[in-house]
Amino acid sequence: MTAQSNAKGLEGVVASETSLSFIDGQEGILVYRGYDIHDLAPHASFLESVFLLWNGRLPTRGELSSFEAEIAGQRGLDPTTIDVLRRLPSDTTPMAALRTAASVEGTTDPDAEDNSAEANLRKAKRLVARFPTMIAAYHRLRGGAEPLDPDASLGHAADFVRMANGEPGTDEAAAALDRTLLLYLDHGFNASTFACRVIAATLGDMHSAVVGGVGALKGSLHGGANAKAMEMLLEIGELEHAGPFLDSAFAEKRKIMGFGHRVYKTEDPRATHLREMSGELTRQAGLEKYYEISRYLEDRITGEKGIRPNVDFYCATVYYSLGLPIDLYTPIFAMGRIGGWSGHVMEQHADNRLIRPRARYVGEMDRSWVPIDER
Ligand SMILES: CC(C)(COP(=O)(O)OP(=O)(O)OC[C@H]1O[C@@H](n2cnc3c(N)ncnc32)[C@H](O)[C@@H]1OP(=O)(O)O)[C@@H](O)C(=O)NCCC(=O)NCCS
Repeated sequence: MTAQSNAKGLEGVVASETSLSFIDGQEGILVYRGYDIHDLAPHASFLESVFLLWNGRLPTRGELSSFEAEIAGQRGLDPTTIDVLRRLPSDTTPMAALRTAASVEGTTDPDAEDNSAEANLRKAKRLVARFPTMIAAYHRLRGGAEPLDPDASLGHAADFVRMANGEPGTDEAAAALDRTLLLYLDHGFNASTFACRVIAATLGDMHSAVVGGVGALKGSLHGGANAKAMEMLLEIGELEHAGPFLDSAFAEKRKIMGFGHRVYKTEDPRATHLREMSGELTRQAGLEKYYEISRYLEDRITGEKGIRPNVDFYCATVYYSLGLPIDLYTPIFAMGRIGGWSGHVMEQHADNRLIRPRARYVGEMDRSWVPIDER
């Protein structure tokens, strides 16, 4: 579509430049720093892709080991963050807890108010390292258990599983989780990344920008869709209920969570990987029926409405097969996207100009002042 200065939802508007990721919505292409997601997903790890995103090149084996060790050594939260998580009301959602924890870390970070490139990189590393710890700590606390200290000998995804569940998962589960983090890492000027860049462009600090990103991701039209998609699959429950469910959803013009995308007009390339993973993992977990329901929904929604699954749809059954609690799905999305958010804050600060669009005023004009006693 032609870019318009007043396009609703800024559809088609090119707001600025980035060297981090490229999307071709017509062809279904996603590229991180020049590398196609189809080449990265089967070969690279999440942290390898974070290194790529921040440095613009793939790490050597030695660089990757050092980077992984550096991130692993930074997983521990400041005690203030644990104290605040402990005091949150028990019905606080994990996304609200993550938003709060990221904000509290911004009060104790030694580089909090320093926007230099060096300080931003140090903060970015701490945030990537600590998002899993924040999510796992809150998950333990809300269940009446004490948070577990990180174990730097474990990989990024594996240690998250251990800290959240209290026991290590399998290598296969950690590898699957790691791949979803890679797929969630970056995606152009999506809503949460754009929110981060708007905040960074005021010369707001890294933590402030990232807190804004978590807030934007929380909504069900963005990251919240992966949890909503799983709730829908559980509500459908059996393959024979999927048809009537869709009939009434179509009749009531309800949005199906995990379908549709502002940019992709063809298959979301991340969904290609997640569909395959979902098929495999649901089979291993004895949960094939949710994959079959998903395929049924995809066939009909794509066939009848021309709307395709996005990154969140098949990710739902991947996480369900891994036994992850549904309300952690969106925080886990944030565990991946934090690498992108922090990369975008660094890119914005490196060549900054305030982001300040105009609004088309559609309200009233020329009204006469009425004193308060005459209204
Ligand atoms: C992602 C999303 C917000 C993109 O929104 P958008 O670009 O503003 O597109 P719109 O909401 O205007 O949708 C365009 C049309 O497709 C329909 N549509 C889009 N997504 C749909 C969905 N998930 N289910 C049913 N219909 C959908 C809309 O109803 C609309 O139809 P209409 O023109 O007849 O009114 C939207 O597809 C959506 O809400 N999806 C569900 C939430 C989700 O999965 N989000 C994660 C995104 S990665």
